[in-house]
Amino acid sequence: MRKPVIAGNWKMYKTVSESVETALALKPLVANANHCDVVIAPVFTSLKTVCDRLEGSNIKVAAQDCSTEVKEGAHTGEVAAFMIRDVGASHVIIGHSERRQYYAETDAHVNKKVQAALQSGLIAIMCVGETLEQREAGLAQDIVSGQLIGGLAGLTPVDLDRIIVAYEPVWAIGTGRTATPEQAQEMHAFIRRVFADRHSQAAANALRILYGGSVKPDNIAGLMAQGDIDGALVGGASLQAESFAQIVNYRA
Ligand code: PGA
Repeated sequence: MRKPVIAGNWKMYKTVSESVETALALKPLVANANHCDVVIAPVFTSLKTVCDRLEGSNIKVAAQDCSTEVKEGAHTGEVAAFMIRDVGASHVIIGHSERRQYYAETDAHVNKKVQAALQSGLIAIMCVGETLEQREAGLAQDIVSGQLIGGLAGLTPVDLDRIIVAYEPVWAIGTGRTATPEQAQEMHAFIRRVFADRHSQAAANALRILYGGSVKPDNIAGLMAQGDIDGALVGGASLQAESFAQIVNYRA
């Protein structure tokens, strides 16, 4: 049985006080959500305060990125994975399409970040997904398998336990255009097959694959009904505690 993960990606929204306000509003709303792991990803500046204020709750905290560099050093603007762990966060989102598109992140960067995250004891939520042009050109599976294999290169079987994959078709992010549950399921099943070929069937069976792209309270249940969809990475609808809690509590 794979435990679902519902993760909220706050992107570059919210000051420290706004982050704390949302996190504290969320806490009672998801306090009984034992059926899934609940994760929120505030901006770096809010990370420590949010971790402190959520201590002892069932909400886990993620960073939205980390450095490719494992050790501290002269890397202006970077934040190392061990520093993220140090403030109490447990997860990190890596290779989000916005980072790939606007900050020129390649699969090689993603791979180094995944390795750094795992070495520091974080759980890596690695994002993959094709653009609309790529889908229309019939390349969606090639792109996704390339990102998957490139991003996870060199990992040991032990590392795989701390990997979560998020399939986020770029054309569905922030557009209000969700993949249908069937489209998402098809890609999730494909990702699991690639993972099984690359690693092992046991690791593939245990891998949690989240869907992301315009997930809302009214479409989460249909997505979660699919056999290979193990949760969601939620952007816009995670910014308000109430809508995110509705997504977390989709079974209720
Ligand atoms: P969205 O974003 O839910 O606003 O489409 C998802 C994401 O980018 O992770």
